[in-house]
This record gives sequence, structure tokens and C-alpha cells, in this order.
Amino acid sequence: MPHDTSAINKQRQDLSQHQSVWLFGYGSLIYKVDFPFLERRPAYIEGWSRRFWQGSHDHRGTPERPGRVLTLIETPGERCTGMAYRVSPDVFEHLDHREKNGYLRFFTPLTFADGEQQQGLVYIATEDNAAFLGPADEAVIAKHIAESEGPSGKNSEYLLKLADGLRELGVIDPHVEKIRHHLLPLLFS
Ligand code: BEZ
Repeated sequence: MPHDTSAINKQRQDLSQHQSVWLFGYGSLIYKVDFPFLERRPAYIEGWSRRFWQGSHDHRGTPERPGRVLTLIETPGERCTGMAYRVSPDVFEHLDHREKNGYLRFFTPLTFADGEQQQGLVYIATEDNAAFLGPADEAVIAKHIAESEGPSGKNSEYLLKLADGLRELGVIDPHVEKIRHHLLPLLFS
């Protein structure tokens, strides 16, 4: 799979017949909402967990020194809570460009807090993408994040804003919190 997945995403789903589409955000889409939306509601997806296992060549790192950002990893029995946005299909033009570094869009069932279910799109960087880094100990990930920076800013800002955004949603994600725990002393030493 190429580094730039925006052209693939345009081909993946024909959204032209949809008036609006639900989009599930589990990472930067929680705190960086630079797109118009019609409605937003906390939601979760089943069988997935967020992991800082994806390299970032274009936002929080560079091709020479990739940062570490989120993707979703299939984890039976786990639930990933995030924010769902109902958007006009033309918003994906912007998002496909923003999330072009290895992410593909997939339709998945979303469940809202009141139990209502809808189909929605989610961006996932699968293991076969060229920027995938894979697992590492949370202390190692924290050091990597502390040392990384790209055109969108410091990698540590991504982690800290995400952790704050999740707390506002009432979510304490153990993987994110462990990295934050190791990261904070590195930033202020
Ligand atoms: C998200 O917040 O859902 C997201 C994270 C990484 C890439 C694309 C989307």
C-alpha cells in the first residue's frame, strides 16, 4: 500500500447517494475538529482498541524521523469510545487529504450512549501500510513521542490533547494513560 492513501479512499465507498454520513473519531478527530459537522455524539465501536502503532511522516514527524500516532487494532472483547460526527459526504475530500498517511476508511457499526446503532466510517491504518510501526513498550513509545515533531507540531501535543479530550468524554484509556505517565517527566526534565 502506498504512503499516500487519499486516492484509494476516494475509490472505496460511493458516498454520493448519502445526504449525511456518520464518522467515528478515536484520535485527533476528537480534539482537532477542523471540518463542519451537522451533529456530534459520543459513541463506541466494539472489538477495537486504540494504539500508538502508526508512524506519522506528515503531521507529527517527518519521513526521516516519523512520529507515532494512533490507529485501531482488532481486539476481541474490547470497546473503543470516541466521538461520532454526522457530516456531509463532501467533508471526506478534506479528511482523506488530512489522514492520507496510510489510513483507509471502513464502514463499521457505531453505538451511541442511548444504545442507538448506526453504520459509520472510521479511518484505520492497517498493518500492511508502509508507515506502520507496530507494538512497543509504552515507555519506549513515550520516549519516541517526546523526541518527535512534524509540520502539525510536537508529537507530545497530540498525545496530551488526546488524553484531555478522552477525559472530557469520561474515557480513561490505559494505553494512552501509560504513555502520558512516562511522557510527562521527559517533557519537564
Ligand atoms: C481519528 O481520530 O479517528 C483518526 C485518527 C487517526 C487517523 C484518522 C482518524
